[in-house]
Amino acid sequence: MSEALQHDIVIVGGGGAGLRAAIAVAELDPTLSVAVVSKVYPMRSHTVAAEGGAAAVIKDNDSLDAHCYDTISGSDWLADQDAVELFVREAPKELIQLEHWGCPWNREPDGHVAVRPFGGMNIERTWFAADKTGFHMLHTLFQTLLKYDEVVRYDEWFATKLLVEDGRCQGVAAIELRTGQVRCIAAKAVILSTGGAGRIFPFTTNGAIKTGDGMALAYRAGVPLKDMEFVQYHPTGLPGTGILITEAARSEGGVLLNKHGERYLSNYDLGEALDVHDPKHPQMRSMELGPRDRLSQAFVKEHEKGNTIDSPFGDVVHLDIRHLGEKKINKLLPFVRELAKNYAGIDPVHEPIPVRPVVHYMMGGIHTDVDTATPLPGLYAVGECACISINGANRLGSNSLTKLLVFGARAGKAAAQYVGGCGAISVAAIQSQAVDEQARITALLNKPDGSERIVSLRTDMYHAMESGAGIFRDESSLKRTCETLAEVRGRLRNIQLDDRSNCFNTELIAALELENMIDIANAVAHSALARTESRGSHQRTDFPDRDDANFLKHSMAYRTDEGPPRLEYLDVVITRWPPAERTYGAKPVETAGE
Ligand code: FUM
Repeated sequence: MSEALQHDIVIVGGGGAGLRAAIAVAELDPTLSVAVVSKVYPMRSHTVAAEGGAAAVIKDNDSLDAHCYDTISGSDWLADQDAVELFVREAPKELIQLEHWGCPWNREPDGHVAVRPFGGMNIERTWFAADKTGFHMLHTLFQTLLKYDEVVRYDEWFATKLLVEDGRCQGVAAIELRTGQVRCIAAKAVILSTGGAGRIFPFTTNGAIKTGDGMALAYRAGVPLKDMEFVQYHPTGLPGTGILITEAARSEGGVLLNKHGERYLSNYDLGEALDVHDPKHPQMRSMELGPRDRLSQAFVKEHEKGNTIDSPFGDVVHLDIRHLGEKKINKLLPFVRELAKNYAGIDPVHEPIPVRPVVHYMMGGIHTDVDTATPLPGLYAVGECACISINGANRLGSNSLTKLLVFGARAGKAAAQYVGGCGAISVAAIQSQAVDEQARITALLNKPDGSERIVSLRTDMYHAMESGAGIFRDESSLKRTCETLAEVRGRLRNIQLDDRSNCFNTELIAALELENMIDIANAVAHSALARTESRGSHQRTDFPDRDDANFLKHSMAYRTDEGPPRLEYLDVVITRWPPAERTYGAKPVETAGE
């Protein structure tokens, strides 16, 4: 094997969180050498697909406390309130910084930054760039990163193992996809920013790359995965593809209709049908702008009542934006129109868009503190792969783009400080681990006698997750899912690949991604089975109530080599907002005093 590549900090993942972290390191200490290892060219990271916007307090009628309260109640009180307070405080600064780097935020006619309402937020506070916000944010970060020569990019390298020596994370083993060679990338600190794991489900907004790689790397290195049972369904995905139709469509005035043409959300404790454009209305958290968990659950109920609409790709409801008119749609929702035309064959200027709930986001992830440090010294995690936790049991739309900036910057700073004080890297020891990793991957590639195929294992995992761990779950459905996943995990040892080539071997990568996904799916299913209550996105039909006495706690899943994960629990941090009932639309939102 070639000798180890050496850097001060390795960032695994080239999306928004990773790039923001790299910029933070470069700005703080230009003498540090930073590597960004990404399995795709950074501009193809999934941040690019984000649409609706990024939340931060900017208007005089808003307040930091109000943003905290919306986030905490939206989380069904599972968010750590110290993390939320910090996030909300740093959010406006980060979005203004992005503006200075060139992000084209939409403007009011007088030149001020424009904000739109978003689900579960009590007031308009979501900054946006039409409905291509992630695309513009990622471009802005990428072009800013290009200024820094000390940042070295390893584009199209796939990290397969964290290299841990002397109880510290000291680098990663990664396959250079062009050559198929495993290389040791040594570093004093590693930041994981690999995104979520929506691909453990068959119907998702997530791009094919979101296979939970960073979560799996940390999990296998002994780091717990926190709150994995909380999987967010976005209420409006396009049937068939799962492509996201942004919440911005509803925030600009779109409505959801059942097969009778009724705004059915009025039957689900989500308040009255409000005119979101009425500036006098004090309460935005209503109906179509309720939180995602409640809207997705309402779809299932509507389906059970026979009120959804049959489609070739399963039942749907209609998202109607026709009344907004072509001019407004073209100005504020051009991507919605483009996607609906290209992937559903309808023009939303003239027809309603068929939509159904779709897996969108993992609230859970690698356990970190507010500085993004994991329990493994030298290892940091940020973005969707991490659980800090500000999202608790249900994330509010538009908090995650801001989160990757706020905590991306903190990760870069924390890692830079850490490398200033930690000892030298044990290069020989971790190089030898990378040699072992090369041997493992070569053996997988050349395995002569396997009988299992990637597609059948992946299909079985999909079915287990969708049938047993979806929007509503119960003990028997989750047990079945856990059993199937255990069986699939066993069969994985017997996998057979056809492609033995070294250059861009996508079959090999798919097998390694599958290994990652099965670990993550296991953590999700077992964490869900053990949480015998309903909270946010985790709805147990056999335990329909929230149970603060027993479950105002984060679950922490530790991987075991054989068998289910070991589960422990950690208290939620409450600072100023004691647990209360979540109400939407019914009464004014309470805010805690300073
Ligand atoms: O609907 C959306 O635009 C999604 C936003 C988000 O998940 O934050």
